[in-house]
Amino acid sequence: MKVFVGQPLPEPSTSELLAGHEVVIGAGSLPAAEVAIHLAGADAFLPTPRERVTREVLSRAPRLRIVASCSVGTDHIDVPACRERGIAVTNTPGVLTEATADLAFALILAVSRRMHEGEALLRSGRWDGWMPLELLGSSLEGKTLGIYGLGRIGTAVARRGEVFGMRTLGVGGGDPPERFEELLAASDVLSLHAPLTPETRGRFSRRELFAMKKGAILVNTARGPLVDEAALVEALEAGQLRGAGLDVYEREPAVHPGLPGRKDVVLLPHLGSATEETRRAMARLACSEIARFFRGEPLRHPVG
Ligand code: DGY
Repeated sequence: MKVFVGQPLPEPSTSELLAGHEVVIGAGSLPAAEVAIHLAGADAFLPTPRERVTREVLSRAPRLRIVASCSVGTDHIDVPACRERGIAVTNTPGVLTEATADLAFALILAVSRRMHEGEALLRSGRWDGWMPLELLGSSLEGKTLGIYGLGRIGTAVARRGEVFGMRTLGVGGGDPPERFEELLAASDVLSLHAPLTPETRGRFSRRELFAMKKGAILVNTARGPLVDEAALVEALEAGQLRGAGLDVYEREPAVHPGLPGRKDVVLLPHLGSATEETRRAMARLACSEIARFFRGEPLRHPVG
């Protein structure tokens, strides 16, 4: 079978698990026309969140039978369009939970302790020694950690918060609206862990950001479009929020121009799952789903 892999993956993954199949690996930045050429003859597609699997893309892939994404998120895939065509879709949940939760907590610590400002001061050569009033951050112990989205990653972040002495307050999809309002009003740190769906897109817009506890910190390692970035800049500028830690962006890879110049934000380039162990496990899981599919075995993580 012919397998088109959107970008080079950590090996051994394709080399071992897709041995016996014809594997073509793209460069991630291939022009759409070139992707279409590869997909024209492909039986399987292994995209990353960077490669969008739209209805239009599918229309150029007449032989396609499975899309196995190297990601837990599936918002880059038109799952209903795949279902209509009888194309199976899989993702990689579970293997990236702890790495992503670690990164979310790293952002919480970085923003609350102003680590990026301290590092910049040190590297500038202007630091001249300990001062009682220098770069004071805020403690986590005794504070409320709000978690929006209580799946695997949200739950793992809550566990870390407990170890740091935080009170955790989680809100999941099925909770009543009052609970969401409580989350906004009570969280000293609010960490987002919901998937991107029509319901969660823009969930943190101007009204919600200005309904948050004054001086709170917002952290987003889920999906950028959950947050209205222009409203976030406004809330930071107004002092409504103390700071923000972002790993994902509304119009990724573009970042709102009002963010990079701010001292109260820590900005990372979508690194949630970026450890050698995790990315290898994700790649191997996605490859093994394709291998299982063509062996006629049940998929481990079917989507939709
Ligand atoms: C995912 O898996 O959806 C992340 O965004 C990339 O690890």
